Amino acid sequence: MSATNDIQQPAEQSRWGRDWRLRHAVTILLAIIVTAGFLISRGEWSPMHAWNRAFADASSILIALSIVSGPLARLWGGMKWLTLWRRETGIYGVLLAITHTVIILQGWVQWDMLRLVGYEIHPQLLQYVMVQHGFGLANIIGIFALCYGLILLFTSNNASQRMLGSTWKFIQLGVYPLWALIVVHVAYFLYMHFQHFHRPAPEPNWLQWPFAGMVILVLLLQALATWKVWRRNRNRGLSPKKALR
Ligand code: HEM
Repeated sequence: MSATNDIQQPAEQSRWGRDWRLRHAVTILLAIIVTAGFLISRGEWSPMHAWNRAFADASSILIALSIVSGPLARLWGGMKWLTLWRRETGIYGVLLAITHTVIILQGWVQWDMLRLVGYEIHPQLLQYVMVQHGFGLANIIGIFALCYGLILLFTSNNASQRMLGSTWKFIQLGVYPLWALIVVHVAYFLYMHFQHFHRPAPEPNWLQWPFAGMVILVLLLQALATWKVWRRNRNRGLSPKKALR
């Protein structure tokens, strides 16, 4: 997964740049450590919630890392090496999201697609009735996010890059809509889903504030990097059309 590929050249000559197996191994290790960290930090939760959320949270962190590597490299030349990891962090971020989804489908809605979109069997009427509008909408947003993620996952390889040519870059820009969908999906579950006026609220998830911080940081880095590129292009006298390339 990578939005642009034009700032990778010097870093690609390093050992990390040449050895993709090493990068995959390190990213897998990172994914395991982050997932285990989330799991241990919330060990008192029921296993279904603890496991699906640990994978989900690790997924959003890896995808965020994939997104900010480009802006960070643009802002600070010394961080160009980060762009080498953009593809791997994106790939394992999406694989973790798939695992999160499978746990939800198996452990929460038992593969019942009507339950997934907010319906439940009414005990007296013995038919499906809509009871969880927000849950349904948030899951549909999650499914759209996953579809975007899968497209990026299947095109995050050199063969696709060669085959698709300039279209490849356009497809990889899909990481931004993916991130927007993830933010809305996660915000619903972190801040709204468990609030009821007639039921005691569960212990707040400690991730609430760090997640908000992460979203602001991603936005800030993207805005600063865009501003820096715009200012550089303006100083070089590039036309707005060329500057966008
Ligand atoms: C790229 C795709 C996705 C990402 C990155 C993602 C990420 C997340 C995150 C970070 C959370 C909050 C975890 C927490 O509270 O600590 C979450 C919650 C949740 N997501 Fe997703 N998700 C994705 C796709 C999906 C899909 C496709 C579904 C439905 C099939 C789904 C269903 C849920 C549910 C039900 C919860 C609440 C979990 C709980 O309370 O235990 N997600 N997701």
